Amino acid sequence: TTCLLIGAPVDSGKRRRGCLMGPDAYRTAGLEQSLTDLGHTVQDLGNVTPAPFEPDTNDVQTFALNETVAWTKALTKAARSAMERGTPVFLGGDHSLSAGTVTGVANFAASQNRPQFVLWLDAHTDFHTPHSTSSGNLHGTPVAYFSGCAGFDEFPPVADPVPQENICLLGLRSVDTAERHAIQQTRIRTHDMREIDEFGISKPLTAFLSDVAAQNGMLHVSLDVDFLDPSVAPAVGTTVPGGATVREAHLVMELLHDSGLVTSMDLVELNPFLDERGRTAKLMVDLAASALGRRVFDRPTRSFS
Ligand code: ARG
Ligand code: MN
Ligand code: MN
Ligand code: MN
Repeated sequence: TTCLLIGAPVDSGKRRRGCLMGPDAYRTAGLEQSLTDLGHTVQDLGNVTPAPFEPDTNDVQTFALNETVAWTKALTKAARSAMERGTPVFLGGDHSLSAGTVTGVANFAASQNRPQFVLWLDAHTDFHTPHSTSSGNLHGTPVAYFSGCAGFDEFPPVADPVPQENICLLGLRSVDTAERHAIQQTRIRTHDMREIDEFGISKPLTAFLSDVAAQNGMLHVSLDVDFLDPSVAPAVGTTVPGGATVREAHLVMELLHDSGLVTSMDLVELNPFLDERGRTAKLMVDLAASALGRRVFDRPTRSFS
């Protein structure tokens, strides 16, 4: 595989600063070498930069709207063109970056006449609109944006919205009331931690992967640091107790690699300012390596079709 590392130091999706250091933390933690060791060709394309943007006006309820819109435009383009050349791994940056990366990869999938699927590994649904959010933090909105919800008038129109039934949210344990009501009206697949505790994490995941395979879909994986339990991944501004264990997260990544279906990936919400001697950055690098084929032992590839 040709892996393209693309830095997206987006820090505008919430008020707490620090995610802009994420791409360099992944580089420092040895992401490129880890993927090279697996036999991949790895190119670090450096960081994306947004075009200049106007300062924010005070009459909007969202924080840093113009900056996030500028990032969305730049990342949509970067993602669209990266898909022509390999498997992009976007190094965040907060989760508002996925408004750009997912719309870009979905635009590419449409050009190939293939359906786009999204696996969203997160404590949160990130299904607010700029109107429903009470925090005003746009990192809580990308799923609503790329699935084509109304209310994103300041943002570029979404050319190829990801169909609701092609979206799987896994790891949920912090959902705001407005998001819960909105998402219950959709066909988005939602799997909370209670379901994972009771039935195991592989069950909903393998069901989803079978559908992706059956439809010859392209699969984007968006991994939020807060999918993980804060005891193993402290470097995130929005910690929520009761998250995935190290092994649950690796199992997800191993099943993803076995499936052979992953066509693009985001690593988001790492805030290196909050880390402990790089442990969260290193765990995220190890998880990316598992998703791209790192194994303890080889075993026969599992088929999802
Ligand atoms: N639902 C909360 C909000 O809208 C938290 C969102 C957290 N999102 C994230 N990508 N960490 O403010
Ligand atoms: Mn998120
Ligand atoms: Mn989250
Ligand atoms: Mn909507």
